[in-house]
Amino acid sequence: MKKNIVLIGFMGVGKSTLGRRLAKRLGYKFIDTDSAIEEITGKTVEQIFRTDGEIRFRSEEKLLARKLAGQTGLVIATGGGMVLEQENVELLKQNGVLICLHADPQVILQRVKNKRRRPLLSKGNLLENIIRLTREREGAYDIAELTLDTGKLTYDEMLQEIKKFLEQKGYLR
Ligand code: S3P
Repeated sequence: MKKNIVLIGFMGVGKSTLGRRLAKRLGYKFIDTDSAIEEITGKTVEQIFRTDGEIRFRSEEKLLARKLAGQTGLVIATGGGMVLEQENVELLKQNGVLICLHADPQVILQRVKNKRRRPLLSKGNLLENIIRLTREREGAYDIAELTLDTGKLTYDEMLQEIKKFLEQKGYLR
């Protein structure tokens, strides 16, 4: 079974960029959960948070996790809050392997220019919000089988590391 490769981690660590490249390299289908939810609801992430509330967004994430759990051969870039919900973790692990991307707050700061999708960071001071939320979520992403520091490695290096890991574990068969 071709396991799904599920990229987890905080906002702005590069899950979508790396995920798209990884999918291309492996010949897997790429799913970005934020984009999928925007397509399903016809609203942007920012609109959902603003008009329907975070709870609605989290329930869309849950529905999507259920749907994806039944599929294989996907690279899934998850929204940073998706694995804070234990049920989603169980679902994503059913057919998938979790890989965490990590970055320090200063690196994240440089990358989170697209605040449209990140309403949790948009009010007040950006760096302070990043530091507060990363503290609140400390340990939450430690559930992954492999963790890579995206501030220290290039995308090509990360692709190589991930491919080597997946081959060693036999997850590509
Ligand atoms: C969130 C992360 C965002 C998006 C939403 C909430 C979070 O996705 O799902 O704004 O709670 O960490 P990215 O991790 O792709 O920025």
